[in-house]
Amino acid sequence: MIKDVVYTYPNGTTALKEINLNIYQGELVGIMGKNGAGKTTLIRTLNGLIRPTQGNIYINNNNIKNTTIASLSKEVGLIFQNASHQLFANTLEDEIKFSLKSFNLSKEESQKKTNEILHQFNLEKYKNRSPLNLSGGESKKLAIASIFCRDPDILIFDEPTLGQDAKEIDFFLRLIKKEREYNKTIIIITHNVEFAFEYIPRTILMAEGKIIADGPTQKVLKNKKLVEDSSLVLPQSQQLSLALESEGFQNTDTLLSKSDATLYLMQFFKNAIRRNQGE
Ligand SMILES: Nc1ncnc2c1ncn2[C@@H]1O[C@H](COP(=O)(O)OP(=O)(O)OP(=O)(O)O)[C@@H](O)[C@H]1O
Ligand SMILES: [Mg+2]
Repeated sequence: MIKDVVYTYPNGTTALKEINLNIYQGELVGIMGKNGAGKTTLIRTLNGLIRPTQGNIYINNNNIKNTTIASLSKEVGLIFQNASHQLFANTLEDEIKFSLKSFNLSKEESQKKTNEILHQFNLEKYKNRSPLNLSGGESKKLAIASIFCRDPDILIFDEPTLGQDAKEIDFFLRLIKKEREYNKTIIIITHNVEFAFEYIPRTILMAEGKIIADGPTQKVLKNKKLVEDSSLVLPQSQQLSLALESEGFQNTDTLLSKSDATLYLMQFFKNAIRRNQGE
């Protein structure tokens, strides 16, 4: 729970203005909004990287005011926008081991866990390589692995789909699906409207340090004004639905995904063919 949170950077920029927000355990929530809206600043307050100038943050009913970053990082895992900012070890293996350090595991346990995680993320083949010598997509994957190995209850991703190919996005989707089965809370910052519309049930829209909308994604991202104010574009299925509606098509508001749209159009063509054959 975020209560009346204000954050002003040392240079005087107030990036968060009286933010109030409740996110429940097990929720999958999206945060959207144009560049500079305050999204990254907001999530940095959640794991103690920065402390609110005013207001309070409660995680599992505890005010985190005096909780150290070290202990918060076991509860809240933050995967940065730019993966290279969180990778610094000499090899992939060391990166994971370093991340596990605060758990005081024995050498064997730490090695076992590291092997498991590298295997799960299909990064074993690079285990002795420097994290600097990975592709953008791979380093993002390593950044996720280095947080996942700590098994935090709250996972926060800053732009996870940016620059990822279709296979990696699919891997990411399966990953969050599995985490949700364990009732993990997942927060995803994204500019990817199609991704949010299809996979994220709740969306928070931010603008100029404030929350301007909070609700079911399929409702929030249908609002033309809100979407334009956030420098986003309407989801393709929504654009199609509006275009069809303006041509006199009926019940187009049920088109929420690509498969809905395909089915709708298939049905239309089938009916049209049937009508033609009947004539
Ligand atoms: N370290 C910093 N020092 C001073 N001002 C900052 C700093 N980081 C961000 N800001 C400012 O705070 C505001 C919010 O920035 P933030 O990074 O939270 O935006 P964002 O919504 O994550 O944007 P983007 O979509 O571009 O990632 C912006 O006006 C930005 O210029
Ligand atoms: Mg950001």
